[in-house]
Amino acid sequence: MTPTIISLANLKGGVAKTTSSLYLSRFLPGKKLLVDLDPQTDLTEDLKINEEDIENTVVLLFEDTDCNINEAIIKINDEIDFIPSSISLSLSLVGYERNIDWHSVLREHFEDLEQYDWIILDCPPALTVNVTNALVASDFVIVPFDSDRRALKASTYIEEYLIQVKNKVPVKLLWTRFDGSTKIINDWCLNELANNKKLPSIFDTRIPKAVAVTNANVMPDPLHDSTSKAALAYKKVANEIEAWVK
Ligand SMILES: Nc1ncnc2c1ncn2[C@@H]1O[C@H](COP(=O)(O)OP(=O)(O)O)[C@@H](O)[C@H]1O
Ligand SMILES: [Mg+2]
Repeated sequence: MTPTIISLANLKGGVAKTTSSLYLSRFLPGKKLLVDLDPQTDLTEDLKINEEDIENTVVLLFEDTDCNINEAIIKINDEIDFIPSSISLSLSLVGYERNIDWHSVLREHFEDLEQYDWIILDCPPALTVNVTNALVASDFVIVPFDSDRRALKASTYIEEYLIQVKNKVPVKLLWTRFDGSTKIINDWCLNELANNKKLPSIFDTRIPKAVAVTNANVMPDPLHDSTSKAALAYKKVANEIEAWVK
């Protein structure tokens, strides 16, 4: 089995990259490896992983390129495995920023992982070497954006960057945190989506704003929500992804 590798990336923060990574890791079928590539460690914290309790993080993959990737993987449940992140990822990447050889580190590590159906990469809002590594390793890229001019503008860069790193894989936008009451900005986004040729295509399903997602930040079980309107929409997006990657 060869896993399908998907990055969730956007140069804009706060557009639900991490939230989408978490929900999709649950609703895509089969065995999943979820990877936190953000030194801000939001996903690691969402999953209640404390750095003191674990041996390794994603830092190992960059600092010891000959390591066995399995040493960085922890089990969340029968379907989801996880590679946590650490604030020290920022430091470990300093110095590699301009070195082109460092762009295939993740791709090479993932070659050994035949046990997964999907590898899902949660990226920070940057084009740092960890994100370049994610994009170079990806088979598909999802660009979440919310109803915001800046978020949609930032969405135009990922496809261009994939061309620069010579991995021109399919890209789709995912409209997140959708709120039908903000009509003026929603209409502006719709107009951009129809007319801005720099924007990739978009998933049919939008993820609505949902109280359950806002509250999930402080809930004891980060994987509890399967019934909110956002969860139901993520299930539909998972179906769209399955059709997309076929
Ligand atoms: N559908 C949603 N409804 C309500 N809040 C959401 C939704 N999606 C994301 N959020 C909230 O928006 C904030 C930013 O989301 P996050 O996934 O951390 O974005 P990013 O990873 O792009 O920075 C978080 O507080 C998250 O809980
Ligand atoms: Mg995030």
